[in-house]
Amino acid sequence: MIKVKIVGVGSYLPEKVINNFDLEKMVDTTDEWITERTGIKERRIVREDQATSDLCYEAAIKALAMAELKPGDIDIIIVATSTPDTVYPSTACWLQKKLKTKGQGAFDVSAGCSGFLYAFLLAGTLIESKVAKKILVCGGEVMSKVVNWEDRATCVLFGDGAGACVVVESNGESGILSVNLGADGSLAELLYQPAGGTRMPASEKTVKEKLHYVHMKGREVFKHAVIWMGRAAEKALKDANLSIDDIKLFIPHQANMRIIKTTNERTKIPEEKTFIILHKYGNMSAATIPVALDEAYRSGRIKDGDLILMSAFGTGFTWAGMVYKW
Ligand code: UT7
Repeated sequence: MIKVKIVGVGSYLPEKVINNFDLEKMVDTTDEWITERTGIKERRIVREDQATSDLCYEAAIKALAMAELKPGDIDIIIVATSTPDTVYPSTACWLQKKLKTKGQGAFDVSAGCSGFLYAFLLAGTLIESKVAKKILVCGGEVMSKVVNWEDRATCVLFGDGAGACVVVESNGESGILSVNLGADGSLAELLYQPAGGTRMPASEKTVKEKLHYVHMKGREVFKHAVIWMGRAAEKALKDANLSIDDIKLFIPHQANMRIIKTTNERTKIPEEKTFIILHKYGNMSAATIPVALDEAYRSGRIKDGDLILMSAFGTGFTWAGMVYKW
């Protein structure tokens, strides 16, 4: 067991709601198509002046309040994101500035929709190895600024939001019971943002060709997602010597209700144990799992000692599975 304890959770969703009927007026789509193919009904969208660190800040303030800690008490700030405020410095550094604290380590983790589980594991190992005592781990995304609002195949899928956890050393009652991480970079081009990095720096041409937006081969991504979401969850259970009967709640990454249902069927995870926020928020990439953790905890679905199974899949491709004892 990696002896870590989540002592604070928080989340933030922007106020502006765009529902499927709003999208019908923007692109050639229908509420029926989006609902049937994805399970999404609405999503939250940031204001023009908001960036990822602003969302993480709001989530972090709530998580710190629950933990009864001040920003200055934190030893390391980690933000999982694929939609950073700037290419550099990291969103974690912008968040640190907003939290009006300095001195502690701050960096981002880029692992797409699996990013929060990667970051949470990292926080656990940094605490276990005594590098830090208290870590703020956020998952935040502003997907609405990287989707092409003229592309119906992608713009209906994503939403903005952030979740945060304060993680400290545990006395052995709470912790990560098992974890697995994976990636397959050979399939990177099935879901990526082609321009804006050093491979294809921003130019008039890249802007004109809309290469700074999400490019996804949805059907291909779907096929891999259903395989790895399930395998990662099953491996996490097996490595912890547990069965699904032992698990209180399954928190999957939430990109498409059909991916979650297929994962549930393959792994025999009952629907009533699966915590869903997809219909309200869409796919928030690295923010999905921490927002779900916060909502599950605050609605009483998670209590001390409960075993939580989490699995994720995203760009990279990356995937991860974890059993955490609350
Ligand atoms: O976060 C992890 C990464 N992301 C994912 O896991 C997403 C994985 N992929 C998916 O969730 C699904 O593939 C999508 C929801 C993106 C698409 O669903 P699909 O059932 O795979 O549809 P499709 O791409 O095969 O498209 C079927 C049809 C096409 O029309 P034709 O070629 O059959 O005439 C599309 O043009 O649906 C059309 N279509 C739409 N129609 C209405 C695509 N998007 C829309 C839309 N509204 N928004």
